[in-house]
Amino acid sequence: MVSKAVIPAAGLGTRFLPATKAVPKELLPLVDKPALEYIVEEAARVGLTDILMITGRSKTAIEDHFDRVPEIEAALEKKGDAERLARVQASSELAQMHFVRQGEAKGLGHAVLVAAPHVGNEPFAVLLGDDVVDERDPLLATMIAEQQAHGGSVIALMEVEPEWVSSYGVATVEDAESHGPYAVKRVRDLVEKPPPEEAPSNLAVIGRYVLSPTIFEVLRNTPPGRGGEIQLTDAIKTLAESEPVHGVVFDGRRYDTGDRGDYLKAIVKIACEREDLGPDFWAWLQEYVAAGGPASTR
Ligand code: UTP
Repeated sequence: MVSKAVIPAAGLGTRFLPATKAVPKELLPLVDKPALEYIVEEAARVGLTDILMITGRSKTAIEDHFDRVPEIEAALEKKGDAERLARVQASSELAQMHFVRQGEAKGLGHAVLVAAPHVGNEPFAVLLGDDVVDERDPLLATMIAEQQAHGGSVIALMEVEPEWVSSYGVATVEDAESHGPYAVKRVRDLVEKPPPEEAPSNLAVIGRYVLSPTIFEVLRNTPPGRGGEIQLTDAIKTLAESEPVHGVVFDGRRYDTGDRGDYLKAIVKIACEREDLGPDFWAWLQEYVAAGGPASTR
């Protein structure tokens, strides 16, 4: 049974500098809620309410965000703003949150290894702190169900344009049985950020994993790989030699909020779909586009 989620959020966020000098990129807002809160909600929605967040030195704001804030709550109560009060309290009520520091950002594989004592000997989920999946798309629930059906580990894959493969881990796969809404593949091999001409497919690894605890033993023996970092992809590649690793091919809505372009798209989409802000924003956006977008003078 999968009952614990690990959320690595200790990366340096260099792609988003200077915004991320003091503010963790995982807390950058998608309209008015930090990306990370969407991710904690996603885990809680599928019953993973034991959450271990991997943080670092410049990330204390993350712990604060998931705590109560008596002064703000008192002020909102005094004003009678019940709606905003509920939204402020929500983040501290979503799950049983635990925090541990990575010490040094030595790579995603190293961040996951830091979770070993907390996770113990059971399969667990990993949700990357800068990868937001739309709540209408049941990726994580499907991955947990496929892990129960196939055993071993399950990763999330997404088809990307060939020119994008060099930004991702890329999988070599064979067809496998699907028990849910998404195609399932047996993962035979993985390569981290290959040049397009060396990519074995256009199936890229995205930020959701359901991993067998064997991964910890493999990670302990995984040397630094690409960029001098201990790569989770390298460890899963080794794991696939001794245990089944399957890939759920996700075709829904997902945003890498650590990437500035994807972050902007996520904000525009969420803003357009919001009941309170959407109608005005969408009307403005249409006017802006009709007036020539960047050429508009309004
Ligand atoms: P990224 O690959 O986006 O790396 O990490 P990054 O360092 O945070 O960002 P850039 O590339 O410098 O802009 C994916 C996820 O893994 C976490 C990050 O916080 C992010 O949620 N991570 C990465 C760690 O927790 N520790 C690490 O050492 C590296």
